[in-house]
Amino acid sequence: MKLRSAIYLASAALAFAALTVAGTLPSGAADKIDPVADAKAFQKFFTDKFPKVKFEDFVNGPYSMNEDLHRQWQEKEQFPPYEFSLEMGKEMFSKPFKNGKSYEDCFPNKGIGIRQNYPYFDEKEGKVITLELALNRCREANGEAPFSYVKDEMAALTAYMAFTSRGKLMDIKIPNDPRALQAYQAGKEYFYTRRGQLNFSCATCHVQSPGERIRAEILAPALGIVNAMPIYRSEWSGMGTTSRRFTTCNSQIRGVPLSPQDDEYRNVEYYLSYVSNGLPISGPGARP
Ligand code: HEC
Repeated sequence: MKLRSAIYLASAALAFAALTVAGTLPSGAADKIDPVADAKAFQKFFTDKFPKVKFEDFVNGPYSMNEDLHRQWQEKEQFPPYEFSLEMGKEMFSKPFKNGKSYEDCFPNKGIGIRQNYPYFDEKEGKVITLELALNRCREANGEAPFSYVKDEMAALTAYMAFTSRGKLMDIKIPNDPRALQAYQAGKEYFYTRRGQLNFSCATCHVQSPGERIRAEILAPALGIVNAMPIYRSEWSGMGTTSRRFTTCNSQIRGVPLSPQDDEYRNVEYYLSYVSNGLPISGPGARP
């Protein structure tokens, strides 16, 4: 009951916020798909709204929005809670599969320092390929069973790959292929479409209300929101991947989450990563 009324309060506050900022939303022109203009407007929206936050700090999610939290985070980084997962990922990464090959054989540059190029649009398949999907495909191509997308091994592998790419700037390409533009656009639409019993879109929380509290949590800004994935969260008492975060966010609005790595989630990751081009990879992250 307590939780329920908190959500109603939050929802009323957010509806008000929606009214006040509706005119300034970085949604772009409705009929023309223009990712370059979108990304520019998107980044400007956040840097105008939070002039004190350093550009590269947006990747630190809730910590970028609150000075006290920022301090706590820096203390936490001395003994990072993702350390165990990172070590596990490092060990798993070069360990051979039963057939003698390893993850290194599936990726450019043996998988080191390439996180900033994911997700990418695969022109052969006509689909967005995320890092998580590429990892499971690598396993399957080598006769190994796929991992769960949400935590444990998948979080460990992506943590290691992110770590080797820390500081590299997100660099997502949209190839000159109408299907790539459509995937981008579908991701954008998914991001701005309201759903669930609370009738929230991803943007309601992460564009209109970053820095505000919903229950005990401070909402992260959508700019750079995927750069720190995967993350350790105290509330999960463990690690979670991008898949875990997307499905959890859908549950929070009492929507029915899609299955991890559904086309729509991959498209929305493509959109969010593209509009965060130029921001550094900071994963793995730790969150309150
Ligand atoms: C009801 C508000 C709400 C909605 C709607 C929502 N989220 Fe979230 N989201 C949260 C909260 C709360 C967190 C955890 C605190 C934080 O980091 O913002 C979070 C965290 C995240 C994070 C991790 C950010 C970080 O730095 O830790 C990502 C990525 C994310 N959400 C993506 C999405 C996507 C994509 C959608 C739409 C499918 C969405 N969210 C919809 C509330 C929401």
